[in-house]
Amino acid sequence: MTSKASSPRVLPGRRGSNRAAKADRHELYELSVQAPESDAATLARLFKRLRKRDAMSMREDFCGTAALSSAWVRSKEGRTAVGIDLDQPTMDWGLAHRIEPHGPDVARRLELIRANVLDGAGPKVDLAAGLNFSYCILHERRDLLAYFKAARRKLVDDGVFMLDVFGGWESMQPQTNVRKVPDGFTYRWEQRSFDPLTHHIVCSICFDFRDGSSIEDAFHYDWRLWTSPELRDVLLEAGFSEVHLMWERTNAKGEGTGAFYEPKKDVENQDSWWTYIVAER
Ligand SMILES: C[S@@+](CC[C@H](N)C(=O)[O-])C[C@H]1O[C@@H](n2cnc3c(N)ncnc32)[C@H](O)[C@@H]1O
Repeated sequence: MTSKASSPRVLPGRRGSNRAAKADRHELYELSVQAPESDAATLARLFKRLRKRDAMSMREDFCGTAALSSAWVRSKEGRTAVGIDLDQPTMDWGLAHRIEPHGPDVARRLELIRANVLDGAGPKVDLAAGLNFSYCILHERRDLLAYFKAARRKLVDDGVFMLDVFGGWESMQPQTNVRKVPDGFTYRWEQRSFDPLTHHIVCSICFDFRDGSSIEDAFHYDWRLWTSPELRDVLLEAGFSEVHLMWERTNAKGEGTGAFYEPKKDVENQDSWWTYIVAER
């Protein structure tokens, strides 16, 4: 079940001022919800812990602007990445802003392919990642299974596939989360609906500026909120030999460490949480 997509709308601010009209929604998105360098480091660390070697090749599924792929190839000499996405204009933006400015060596080691992730495009890689919950666009279990099978097929023998997942009781109710971003704007995550029968959720990312202008529905999501056990079961059915549900490591005071995750069998519930799932080919 899907609802009609909402496209971005720029609303002017006070006295005709309009910072929103001058802003680039891809920049705002990256500043708000991505941390490509630290994601690349975390993925590399998780891979090395499992395989006792460095991952060199990575595939970024649902790559969008390929910010993670760019960070990956820049994180170590000789690393390569392939980004897969359906949206050519977004990939073109990534090429112009996140790849070419880093020079010909980075551009040579990073390939962007316009394709459906279900089709298993690109070469076999050490590590494949589909982050920011992008697989939630797949509402049907058979499509998720087809995606996971394709992802597994395009891994080398000791390859690893990594996803992220979010949940908690706040993710199962309409809510608005607002966060100031240091670059002078506010990120607004609007979860507009949740259906308990289907786990169909509709969410939007909006951006607000100090002059009162805003971008409504800068990014709009019509998702199925998959749960960790569902994801684990479908990954195992797709043929992955081991699936690790990770959880953020805490310090002695019980505070999150930010970057370190470990496999867990059970954890305490929280109002909202996100973590990684690591699947061994
Ligand atoms: C939430 S964005 C993810 C952007 C970025 N990878 C990140 O981590 O924030 C989802 C992306 O998935 C792409 N997409 C949606 N369905 C797809 C599919 N079946 N195959 C490939 N890309 C798809 C969209 O074009 C969009 O760029």
